[in-house]
Amino acid sequence: MHAIGIERGKTGPRLLELPRPEPAPGEALVRTLRVGVDGTDHEVVEGGHGGFPAGEDHLVLGHEAVGVVVEPNDTDLAAGDVVAPTVRRPPPDGSNTYFERGEADMASPEAILERGIDGAHGFMSEYFTSPEEYLVSVPAELAALGFLLEPLSVSEKALELAAAARSTVTWGPDTALVLGNGSLGLLTAAMLADEATVYCLGRTDRPHASIDLLEALGATYVDSRETPVPEFAAAHEPVELVYEATGHAKHAFECIDALAPGGVAALLGVPGDWTFEVNGGRLHRELVMGNRALVGSVNSGPRHFRAAVDRLRTLPDGFVDDYVTDVVPYESFERAFADGDGGTVIKTAVEFDTHEER
Ligand code: NAP
Ligand code: BGC
Ligand code: ZN
Repeated sequence: MHAIGIERGKTGPRLLELPRPEPAPGEALVRTLRVGVDGTDHEVVEGGHGGFPAGEDHLVLGHEAVGVVVEPNDTDLAAGDVVAPTVRRPPPDGSNTYFERGEADMASPEAILERGIDGAHGFMSEYFTSPEEYLVSVPAELAALGFLLEPLSVSEKALELAAAARSTVTWGPDTALVLGNGSLGLLTAAMLADEATVYCLGRTDRPHASIDLLEALGATYVDSRETPVPEFAAAHEPVELVYEATGHAKHAFECIDALAPGGVAALLGVPGDWTFEVNGGRLHRELVMGNRALVGSVNSGPRHFRAAVDRLRTLPDGFVDDYVTDVVPYESFERAFADGDGGTVIKTAVEFDTHEER
C-alpha cells in the first residue's frame, strides 16, 4: 500500500510503499478516507517535534484521520463503520495508569507514543490498524469531514480545562482572544463565535482567506504587527478567555495582560526553547490579584472526540466549506505540505479514498 512519511536522513515527506498492516487480536483494519494536516505535521517534517518509531528508518505521518472499518476481526465494530482514531498509544513496554483510566491525554510525554508524531506510525496510508478502544464512531454523513474531529477534540479538551479552572464562579466566556489565525486558531474561533465576542490575532496581510473567514464569523481580526498582545486590552477590551495557538512563547506570558480579572488563558502552542526576559513579579501579581489562570493543554481522548462530533454538526453555517481550502489526492501529497503559492491556504486534507465509492 501507499503511505506518506518521512525517512531518516532525507528531507520532506515522501510517497512510501509499505505492506498493508495485519490487524492483531482486538484490532480492526481501517481503510483511510482523509487525513488532515496541521502545524504539528510541519514541525514533525522539519524535525522540531516528535520522532521515528524505535529502530525504524521511517515514520508514516498523519494524526487527524477518518476511515472505514474493512475487517472488524474480533472487535464490536462492523464492516462499513466510519471511525476516527485517537492519537496516543501506550509505549512498547506496556500500558500505564493513564491508559488504564482512558486518560492518556493527561499522561506525560515520556509515558506515551503519538501516532504520526512521536514514536508510532500515523494514519497517512491507504490502510491502518487500531485497537477498538482508540476508534471513535463517526456518523456516516460526517465521513468526509471526520478528519476535523481530532483538532476539534483538542479544543474541546482545552476549553473544558479552561472552564474547569473557573468552575466555582459564573464564567462565559463572553469575550475571547484567539492567538493565531492558523488551522487550530480558526477552528477554535468558529467554536466560540456563537457564544462570545471573538478576536483573533495573526500577522497575515489582507486580503487573505483566513481574515475573510473570521469576519464571516463576526470575529475581529487583530494584526499583531499593529496591535501586539501587550497592547490588545487597551486597543479592544480585556477578555475572559485567551486561546493561544501560535506557538510563539512570549504569548504565553504577554496574554496575562489581555485577560480580564477572573480570566483564563489556555496554552496550546508547542514552542522550542527560547530565553527572554519577563517581569515575573508583575505577571505573578496579575495572576494572583486578578484571580487569573494559565492552563496548558495537549492532546484529547475519546470523550473529547465524541463532543467534537456534536460540535462538527453545529459549527456556524458555511464555516467548514470556507475553512477546508484543499483536499488533495494522496499522490499529490506535496501540495498538502507546501506553504506559499499553491500550498495550504487554511486547512488541507490528504484524500486516500471516498466514502461513497464502496
Ligand atoms: P499553524 O497553522 O502553523 O498556525 C499558527 C499560526 O500562528 C500561523 O498562522 C502563524 O502565522 C501564527 N503566528 C505565529 N506567531 C505569531 C505571532 N507572533 N503573531 C501573530 N501570529 C503568529 O499551526 P496550528 O496547526 O494552527 O497549530 C498552532 C500551534 O498549536 C502549533 O504550535 C502546534 O504545534 C500547536 N498544536 C498543539 C496542539 C495541542 O494538543 N496542544 C494541537 C494542535 C496544534 P505565520 O503563518 O505567519 O507563521
Ligand atoms: C496533536 C495532538 C498531540 C500534540 C502534541 C497536536 O498537533 O493534534 O494530538 O498530542 O500535537 O504532539
Ligand atoms: Zn494536531
